[in-house]
Amino acid sequence: MPSLSLLQTFFREVITRERSKRVTEPNLVMDDPDKVAAYTRAGREDGVMAPVYLFHCAQICEVIKPGDTVVDLGCGPATQLAMVARLNPDATVIGIDLSDEMLHRARDYVGGQSLRNVEFQAGDISNLAMFPDASVDALYSTVALHHLPDFATLEKTFSEISRVLKPGGGLYVVDFGHLKSEKSIAYFAHQYARQQPELFTLDYLYSLRAAFSRDDFVALTKKYFGERMAVKSTFLMPYMVAVKSPPRADLNNTLLKGELKNLYNRLPGYHKKDLSDLTLFFRLGGLQSQYLSHL
Ligand SMILES: C[S@@+](CC[C@H](N)C(=O)[O-])C[C@H]1O[C@@H](n2cnc3c(N)ncnc32)[C@H](O)[C@@H]1O
Repeated sequence: MPSLSLLQTFFREVITRERSKRVTEPNLVMDDPDKVAAYTRAGREDGVMAPVYLFHCAQICEVIKPGDTVVDLGCGPATQLAMVARLNPDATVIGIDLSDEMLHRARDYVGGQSLRNVEFQAGDISNLAMFPDASVDALYSTVALHHLPDFATLEKTFSEISRVLKPGGGLYVVDFGHLKSEKSIAYFAHQYARQQPELFTLDYLYSLRAAFSRDDFVALTKKYFGERMAVKSTFLMPYMVAVKSPPRADLNNTLLKGELKNLYNRLPGYHKKDLSDLTLFFRLGGLQSQYLSHL
C-alpha cells in the first residue's frame, strides 16, 4: 500500500488547477565534479535510485536481443548501463554523454567490473552523427532528456533516434514527466532528503522542474514512430513517462529472470517498497514487465 504522503500527492495532482511551468536545468550537461559525485553516489546500485534502475533494467532487457548493438543516450555514471550490459553479455552497449566528468566515472565503474561488451563515446544526444541511418538494434535512455534545453531539441533527439534505429528495433526511453503542482515536485524531490547528499536533492528538484510533459512525449512519439511505440506513464500522475517498443527478447528467459530476482533480493526493505509503488503506478498506467512479474 503506498504511503499516505504519496497518496496525498497523487490526489493533489489529479484535482489541482495549478500548471507549473517548465524551468530549464541550470546545468544542462552534468560536469560539475561535486554534483557528479553526489549523483554517482545516490545513483549506484545500493543508492536511493536502486529500485528505479532495477525497474528500468527489466524494461530495457525486454527490448534487447543477443547480438544487438545497443545505445544508451545520456548514460551518466553508467550505473544503469553496467546493469544492462551485465545481464545482456551477448549485446554491445554504447554509452553516449557530453560530460567528460561523467564519462570518466562511467569508464572507471565498468572497468572495475571487467565488462567487455561496453563502449563510451562523447557526444550530443540530439545529434547522433556518429551512427549511420538504421544502424542501431536497440536504444534506451533513462532520466536524461529533461536536460535538453527546449522542445525543439527534444524533437531533434526523437528525429535522430528514429533515423539511427533499425526498422523493428527496440526502444525504451524514460524520463520524469512534468507535474502540475510545485508542491508535488517538492514532495518527490525531498522524499529521501535524509538518505541522500543535499546536492542530489537539489539536482532532483531541478530535474523535476525541467521535465517535459507527457503530451510532449505523446506528440513526438506519434510523429516519429506512429503506432509502433507506446507512451505509458505512471497512473493519472505522470511522474514518469516511458516510450517503449514491443518486446524483442525471449520473455521466458529464466536465467535473466533469476538474475533480476537476485538484484531484487539484495534491495533493503524500503527500496523493495519503492519498487512495488513504481511497479503498481506504472502497471495501472499500462506498463508492466514480464521480467518483474515473479517478484
Ligand atoms: C540525470 S543524468 C542520467 C544518467 C543516467 N542515464 C542514469 O540513469 O543514471 C543525465 C545525463 O545526461 C547527460 N546529458 C545532458 N545533456 C546531454 C546531451 N545533450 N548530450 C549527451 N548527454 C547529455 C548529462 O551529462 C548526464 O550525465
